[in-house]
Amino acid sequence: MKSVVSMLLVGFIVLAVTPLFAGDTAAGRDLFGKKCASCHGASGEGKDSVAKVFKVEMHNLGSKEVQAKSDADLKKVMIDGMGKMKGIKDVDAKGSDDILAYMRTFAKK
Ligand code: HEC
Repeated sequence: MKSVVSMLLVGFIVLAVTPLFAGDTAAGRDLFGKKCASCHGASGEGKDSVAKVFKVEMHNLGSKEVQAKSDADLKKVMIDGMGKMKGIKDVDAKGSDDILAYMRTFAKK
């Protein structure tokens, strides 16, 4: 009987805690760190070294210009690429949603 009670308790705790960790933004931060940060920096600020190699100006992903793009456009950049940036091949639909959610947190206030 005691074990049933503790199982229920564990169940409740898991349910109560999960939303804190299951956020798309958290998953997106992870993916961004793995697939984007090498060029865009941990917070989307863009790396000078990369800008030099590609001979482009890299916009801060939190800037007004970039944040003004629609969700669909930003996802298209991720998946198909844009200008000098090649599409990131192994990002699936859920991954691109998560990364997008994370990129939206860069928006300057
Ligand atoms: C190999 C380096 C590299 C990687 C990895 C990379 N990018 Fe880029 N990204 C660039 C460069 C360079 C540009 C600028 C392209 C241009 O202007 O021609 C760019 C442009 C962009 C833009 C458009 C910004 C603007 O000026 O409108 C977005 C959005 C973007 N990247 C998102 C991402 C996301 C999200 C990821 C990860 C899934 C990612 N990038 C991974 C190099 C990279």
